[in-house]
Amino acid sequence: MEKYDLIIKNANVVSPENTILCDIAVKDEKIAGLGSYDAKDAAKCIDAAGKYVMPGGVEAHMHCHCPFQGVTGKIDFDTQSVAAVYGGVTTYMDFSNMSRGQSPYQQVLERAKEMEKSIIDYGVHGKFLDATPEAVADMEKLVENGFPTFKIFMTYDVMCNDADMDVLFKKASELHAMPMVHCEDNTIATENDKKFKEAGDTSWPRFADSKPVECEAEAFKRAVGCATKNNSALLVVHTTTDLALSVAREVQKDKFPLYVETGPHYLTLTRKLYDDPQRGHLAICSPPLRTEKEQAELWAGIQDGTIRLIGSDDCSFYFSEKSMNLQKDEDGNWIEPNYMKVVNGLSGLELRLPLMLSEGVNKGRISINKVCELTSTNVAKIYGCYPQKGAIAVGSDADLVIVDMDKKVTLNQDVLHNGMDYCLHEGMEVTGWPVTTIARGTVLMEDRAFKGVDHKGKLIRRHIDAARFETCDLNK
Ligand code: URP
Ligand code: ZN
Ligand code: ZN
Repeated sequence: MEKYDLIIKNANVVSPENTILCDIAVKDEKIAGLGSYDAKDAAKCIDAAGKYVMPGGVEAHMHCHCPFQGVTGKIDFDTQSVAAVYGGVTTYMDFSNMSRGQSPYQQVLERAKEMEKSIIDYGVHGKFLDATPEAVADMEKLVENGFPTFKIFMTYDVMCNDADMDVLFKKASELHAMPMVHCEDNTIATENDKKFKEAGDTSWPRFADSKPVECEAEAFKRAVGCATKNNSALLVVHTTTDLALSVAREVQKDKFPLYVETGPHYLTLTRKLYDDPQRGHLAICSPPLRTEKEQAELWAGIQDGTIRLIGSDDCSFYFSEKSMNLQKDEDGNWIEPNYMKVVNGLSGLELRLPLMLSEGVNKGRISINKVCELTSTNVAKIYGCYPQKGAIAVGSDADLVIVDMDKKVTLNQDVLHNGMDYCLHEGMEVTGWPVTTIARGTVLMEDRAFKGVDHKGKLIRRHIDAARFETCDLNK
């Protein structure tokens, strides 16, 4: 019997700190060693010469098969986990589905059951819509049982008011739970909705105008104020503007544990997509896509360390789902296009890594080590599953992605595996592509061929290190 299950030869092993040429030995789902190994000592050997090996991606921000704004996306975790594998993601986390009055803890358990059909490992975040005594009591159960992260919305019909957010942050600070906040000011957004409705123009570009950068920055300031008041750590998801980043820079200067996420779509797409009268609504997501100015600000925020992690915010809806409340005239044009009738959300899980490799590394903006940090290591650290996930180190899960930094691919729906019927990056050429994905030592995709039919993902129960609540320095 061979000593190892798998050996990866000649790997350029990527970590946030450096890239080292060596072999990787895998045994019993774990990384058994890094060094020089004989291919004969393993049941299987992969030669990664000329390629890079990164820790499997950890995607902590997605919404799959979730009821949202009157639509439940049809795509489910079986399909999405295959798409994740093709995108080099080996662990993902989704949110519980919550209506007012439901138990946040029970809803997380429900969601964990739903996610059992995943072929990769998974975690679940809670969601709090308010701070009733029952809901607050559930936070303790969530933390104790390995679900120490929860989302709060500052807009939409699932929004939490400021007074309740204050109570939740106080409790989170006591328990070492991490609030993840969707920052958009509901008053600004709804007043703009009213204004555009009265003016009779609710076309797709008005969506971006309804939630300007100030709408996001106003809510960001309030969330940060609430966190600093309660000495609670805070993770702000899908940040898109320098107005927010400058607030973040101020508190991060004092090492306050504020973690800022942005998404690949904000780095690679712009609001020009809303100018297409036929298909502009497909790009409706919140916060809205911005301009090239904000794109440059976000890359700068990544470069200077203000933005610590990248989440795709995948919330995939078919063309028919995005259009379900719209009607066409005889010529095929939308009758009274109304952005308020379009469910918010874009796909992104499968393209998160390729876009960061191509637009980040190959365009010279950031190093591959930074991509490793943003899409894997930092995510695992902040969400509490490091070093089981997010590291190529002895004893860590053997979750690995081999990337070919020279491979060019023209994006369109045919190269993707999420089962959708359109691709917002259609026609864009990317350079840098995941070619092989290994999850807990099992090869799920090899040279772009799928091998993971029988693989079963496991629920990852998480515990966030105390340091994450004391300092935003992720090396502590
Ligand atoms: O438009 C978006 N982002 N949809 C998903 C839900 C959310 O707000 O994150
Ligand atoms: Zn959100
Ligand atoms: Zn989201």
